[in-house]
Amino acid sequence: MSELKRQWWKEGVVYQIYPRSFQDTTGNGVGDLNGITKRLDYIKSLGVDIIWLCPVYQSPNDDNGYDISEYRTIMPEFGTMADFDALLSGMKLRGLKLVMDLVANHTSDEHFWFQESRKSRDNKYRDYYHWWPAEKGTPPKRWSYFDVDGNAWKYDKLTDSYYLHYFSVKQPDLKWENPEVRKEIYDIIRFWFDKGVDGFRMDVIPFISKDTTYPEIPEKYKGNYVSYYSEGPRLHEYLHEMNQEVLSKYDVMTVGEAPGITLDKALDFVDEDREELNMFFHFDLMSLDRDGDEVFWMRSDKWKLTEFKKIHSEWDKVFAKRGWGSMFLSNHDFPRSVSRWGNDSPEHWRNASTMLHTFLLTMRGTPYFYFGDEIGMTNVRFDTIEDYKDINTLNRYELLKQSDISLEDFIENEKEAARDNARTPMQWDSSTHSGFTESKPWIKVNSNYKTGINVAAQENDNHSVLNYFKQMVLLRRNHLGLVYGDYELLLEDNEEVYAYTRIFKSEKYLILLSFSENETTVDIDEVSFKNAELLISNDTTLKSQSTPNFHLKPYQACVYELT
Ligand code: GLC
Repeated sequence: MSELKRQWWKEGVVYQIYPRSFQDTTGNGVGDLNGITKRLDYIKSLGVDIIWLCPVYQSPNDDNGYDISEYRTIMPEFGTMADFDALLSGMKLRGLKLVMDLVANHTSDEHFWFQESRKSRDNKYRDYYHWWPAEKGTPPKRWSYFDVDGNAWKYDKLTDSYYLHYFSVKQPDLKWENPEVRKEIYDIIRFWFDKGVDGFRMDVIPFISKDTTYPEIPEKYKGNYVSYYSEGPRLHEYLHEMNQEVLSKYDVMTVGEAPGITLDKALDFVDEDREELNMFFHFDLMSLDRDGDEVFWMRSDKWKLTEFKKIHSEWDKVFAKRGWGSMFLSNHDFPRSVSRWGNDSPEHWRNASTMLHTFLLTMRGTPYFYFGDEIGMTNVRFDTIEDYKDINTLNRYELLKQSDISLEDFIENEKEAARDNARTPMQWDSSTHSGFTESKPWIKVNSNYKTGINVAAQENDNHSVLNYFKQMVLLRRNHLGLVYGDYELLLEDNEEVYAYTRIFKSEKYLILLSFSENETTVDIDEVSFKNAELLISNDTTLKSQSTPNFHLKPYQACVYELT
């Protein structure tokens, strides 16, 4: 521990907001900035410290704001810059920090730079994007996440050239190899920092560097585009430069979204000596229930708890002495955490939700909670394509029409995998549309807001998921050892219980988490103790005890202090 330096962004708890779905105040069915401002007291009451706000910039919303057309303007649907300033000052007043989303691998095709770039081959902005002149033939294959044909090169007739887009055709990739582009990005970052923003979450940041000869993808990647995309030749040079030019000049936090980044490469990004980023989100857990490299397809068998433990134990080890990790179970790109990692049946939903909260809040690494998880929001599981809004689901549906995979199977898959599961509106109370809006919401509300999964009902219930969440956040805050302590896995091969200790100076904690629908008993004989004092549990059956034999209810979670 002694090598690790204390930092606010290590000790803070992050609350992620998808603004479109949080709170509407204008009656247009879309959440907005004033809605967030209105709910700041609620957010503060959770005990969290940092808000990560998904993109709120001007955008044609091909990918809900991840396609930016103006980086210094607020999307009119969400409000104005004055609304933003009011939100930020409301946050400062309450001691909350704000982390924005930086989407700089690509822009919208409606951004001025791209509008210019596509006009002519000698336009001043031509070199802001990646172009392949058609007289050279068809460019070497690149795969696109959201393209209806899966092709990342789009032919543009006007200049008889192809442009590169790793995401949708409306999200052309910026050419970071051009120093002008990098300067523009650093200026944008500076603009927001000068306003008082406390950091950035950086969208698909490992993809920014490209080999601009655009060769055939080397054999060793064997069609694994993500790992190819995340290993661009000048990636670390750019991250270091960004750090030196802007990040290091402010007291801010940075967290990269890092698809393709493996354990062996982790410290290259976050070792303090490299002066790049503070943290990143790896994708190992997010791939665990998926079919190999097909990140949007569920695997056919169920994931195993031993696999889940292994991922977290390995990642913890990487950051044990250098760098720092980030802990998350859900975000706007993945389904709801209790549906995915716990159990959302009426019988187990409460314990499973609170058990997962206990997990994130007792691990080393900064915990990130996605809005609504604090009340145990669940997957909506739309059963018709008409209910889906996400370009990812819609375009994959179109793509599948050209294949022999059944569309019914696809819809079944989307019930568990779709990003829209996480994008349904926040469930505030039991009034129409869950108190999110007074008119028709942009995406359907999950109907279980009527049956207890809403803030108002849970605020008044001592036993609720929400109140447990608050207590658990407080527990972490009051026990520094839960933030910085060493982690050690116990019961490695057990498929029902995740058990570990956290040890920090003279403090020693034991955490027991049941991932099982059955009652189970474990013997913790790997650690010796005189007394295990119960600090918190989501079920009342366990008390402090001096024997190593613990009997757990389904999805029970306990945190003990050992002496
Ligand atoms: C990231 C975002 C996702 C977006 C994509 C393209 O993965 O989290 O929502 O669609 O990048 O910007």
